[in-house]
Amino acid sequence: MKSLFYLAFLLIAITGCSSSSLKPQAATKHVQVHGHRGSRGTHPENTLSAFEEAVSSGADWVELDLVLSKDDVPVISHDATISVDLCLDARKKPLSRVIPIKTQTVKQLKTYDCGSVPNPVFPDQKPVLGQTFVTLEEVLVWAKNLPEKKVRFNIETKTSASQKQFEPNPRKFVDSIIRLLRKYHQIENSILQSFDFRTLTEARKMEPNLKLSALFGKPEPICKTTKDLGAVIASPNLSLVTKDMVKECHSLGVEIHPWTLNQESEWKSAISMGVDGIITDYPRKLTHFLISSAQR
Ligand code: G3P
Ligand code: CA
Repeated sequence: MKSLFYLAFLLIAITGCSSSSLKPQAATKHVQVHGHRGSRGTHPENTLSAFEEAVSSGADWVELDLVLSKDDVPVISHDATISVDLCLDARKKPLSRVIPIKTQTVKQLKTYDCGSVPNPVFPDQKPVLGQTFVTLEEVLVWAKNLPEKKVRFNIETKTSASQKQFEPNPRKFVDSIIRLLRKYHQIENSILQSFDFRTLTEARKMEPNLKLSALFGKPEPICKTTKDLGAVIASPNLSLVTKDMVKECHSLGVEIHPWTLNQESEWKSAISMGVDGIITDYPRKLTHFLISSAQR
């Protein structure tokens, strides 16, 4: 009996294991990475160059914003007007007036240069020549032709009931997006996200297999609202997220993917609250951070 006791003591001493550390470790959670506007921190936002960077960084999702052109084509842009800060005209001169995108055909939009002007908010962003507006269809064709890499998109409808410049009819807008996603077999690989819940409701009716994400910028019953919309992701500003909210959303089967987290301290805080995904302007940095902290 005595020798058995010594044997057990010896084993513990040699392995340095207490009974608690012999318990299996909890499986590491895969935190999903969304490249915001592609990779806005490093490349001109919402351009093909930024989407290429997001894919090569290993991001799970390429986030982009959509508006409608004059000829009713879904075009990638965060703003309803051509950005006077980020784009030049066909003569490479700064824009002298505000031009709503809905007054321009795709052919006209293609004449603007939206890759040469540095964005002062993102000092690491490098200008990329030859970048202009791209349509959703062009991006889907690009994704289809990529060797091996499977690209998944987080597509935001930039519509608003209260802002006249963002006024495409929600049903018409969503219909044009879903048609393209079906054509390129991307329904299962995409998320449709919006602050304008009218577009999520339309999408729910049209295509039940498309994942929906509800965006939030101010406090409200985030998890319940998301669930009631039939969305599977709640995407609030980080300042709104709490540990209890994450628990509540999970109990309703809703994931939480906050935006837009660019600092390591924000990534750590979000991960400690148990979020499922992070939307960032720096997908490469976030991917490296997650690998180094064993979250991927
Ligand atoms: O993905 C959510 C985030 O993109 C919302 O903010 O203004 O960049 O479209 P915004
Ligand atoms: Ca967006």
